Amino acid sequence: MKTLVVFYSRSETTKRVAQEVARAFNADIDEVIDKKPRKGILGFLIAGYDATRGKTTEIEFEKDPSSYDLVVIGTPVWNGRVTPAIRTYLLQNREKIRNAAFFCTCAGRPGKCLEQMEGILGKRPVLRKVLMKKRLKEGIKEFVEGLKTLSGS
Ligand SMILES: Cc1cc2nc3c(=O)[nH]c(=O)nc-3n(C[C@H](O)[C@H](O)[C@H](O)COP(=O)(O)O)c2cc1C
Repeated sequence: MKTLVVFYSRSETTKRVAQEVARAFNADIDEVIDKKPRKGILGFLIAGYDATRGKTTEIEFEKDPSSYDLVVIGTPVWNGRVTPAIRTYLLQNREKIRNAAFFCTCAGRPGKCLEQMEGILGKRPVLRKVLMKKRLKEGIKEFVEGLKTLSGS
């Protein structure tokens, strides 16, 4: 099964998960870049505000999701919500994504992040998982095992 792992990450946690998932499936990986500055205290505050308001943003990415059987999409949780970068990615690519799996990373309060992702894509993902920062290793293992069970490998 040709798999693409897509992620946005502000401070590398989601990136780490994405890299490990991609490695486990020998998958391609694509980082979504948010063109809006998100660093520092101001970046943090605006990030939370933008996520809460359901804002989109200007993004860059490289790979075409329509050439993959499965697209795994990962985002950090911001104020219990999906990030503007992944919201925008889903909106721009929903016609091109045949099968999706979602994960989010968070400090412990995922809110409605994964439900939002499903609503924006407009179809049910084959798998979705919340990964808590405190037990990231176990979370990655469970997510990879879940995907392997689904793909029969
Ligand atoms: C603006 C902002 C809002 C956040 N809101 C939440 C939240 O609502 N719940 C939570 O558990 N963690 C929250 N976090 C923590 C991140 O979800 C968590 O640290 C995540 O793993 C960061 O991923 P990254 O390193 O890939 O950017 C927030 C972080 C930021 C920057």
